[in-house]
Amino acid sequence: MAVAVAGTSATASELAARIGRLRRERNAVILAHNYQLPEVQDIADIVGDSLNLSRQAARTDADVIVFCGVHFMAETAAILSPEKTVLLPDLEAGCSLADTITADQLRAWKSQHPGAVVVSYVNTSAEVKAESDYCCTSSNAEAVIRAIPEEREILFCPDMFLGAHLERVTGRRMQVWMGECHVHAGIDPDDLETARRRHPDAELLLHPECGCTSATLYRLGHGDYQGSSCVVASTEGMVRRAVESPATTFIVATEVGILHRMNLLAPGKRFLPASEDAVCPYMKKITLEKIAACLERMEPRVVVPEPVASQARRALDRMVAIAP
Ligand code: 13P
Ligand code: SF4
Repeated sequence: MAVAVAGTSATASELAARIGRLRRERNAVILAHNYQLPEVQDIADIVGDSLNLSRQAARTDADVIVFCGVHFMAETAAILSPEKTVLLPDLEAGCSLADTITADQLRAWKSQHPGAVVVSYVNTSAEVKAESDYCCTSSNAEAVIRAIPEEREILFCPDMFLGAHLERVTGRRMQVWMGECHVHAGIDPDDLETARRRHPDAELLLHPECGCTSATLYRLGHGDYQGSSCVVASTEGMVRRAVESPATTFIVATEVGILHRMNLLAPGKRFLPASEDAVCPYMKKITLEKIAACLERMEPRVVVPEPVASQARRALDRMVAIAP
């Protein structure tokens, strides 16, 4: 495949070789989220979910982290590795869910609920994390909510579908911010139902940000899906389940980039997207050309200034203390 690079053209393997040389020269580690383009996942040192990537990067002796993901993920890496240089190959790689709440909005919400405990999903800006008591991810959110004393009011932000899922599994009432990710909210319960009718033996793998999660769990709870099993998990949890499950066919309700990793790790199994349209335009902004260019120029960098970094790290540390 020939791809254009600043007036020239290079094949994917030439770009991969250039990235490999620059990675060694810069002592860099390349992290890729599970939603990245297949060719980006293939050249990464580590592929995984949003938080585990940052935590693994903090443990390496690399001087530079190239974060192939979106802005809040690169910020989390910068917060956890303040001594490393964090590069995000395209600063336009944002997140529609993180954009649904600003630090000012959170401060205003907190002032209406004095004494409440704030739990923020990892898909938030560093400023929002700095205003939060706890951070959480889709894999540990339940443990974080259960660790908060019953009598304390909880403000949960910003994802309403994850919030509804947590209320269901913990039985806890919370104040939930009405944010959503446009990619996951767009996965229609009826699309999932159509796929399930076509493949009644398939196991359902759902990300809790999906608009379809509530409807699907409701139908399961009412015995509508006899014989179907269903797992709600973070992207890494979904990949793990795909490998470990005895099922051979899966309907996968999240961003389609994850199918590349599932096919790689569980080659004999069949993975069907709940919706072919579940494509995150922000994740797809990261390309091999941009990775090579950022390693050459050592920019764009993501820096989280103090005191925001320390305050945000406190919310991340509290989460890790509950669910390491
Ligand atoms: P994970 O933390 O499960 O990787 O999810 C991040 C994300 O952006 C989901 O859309
Ligand atoms: Fe954000 Fe949604 Fe993209 Fe995940 S899939 S990075 S939540 S816009």
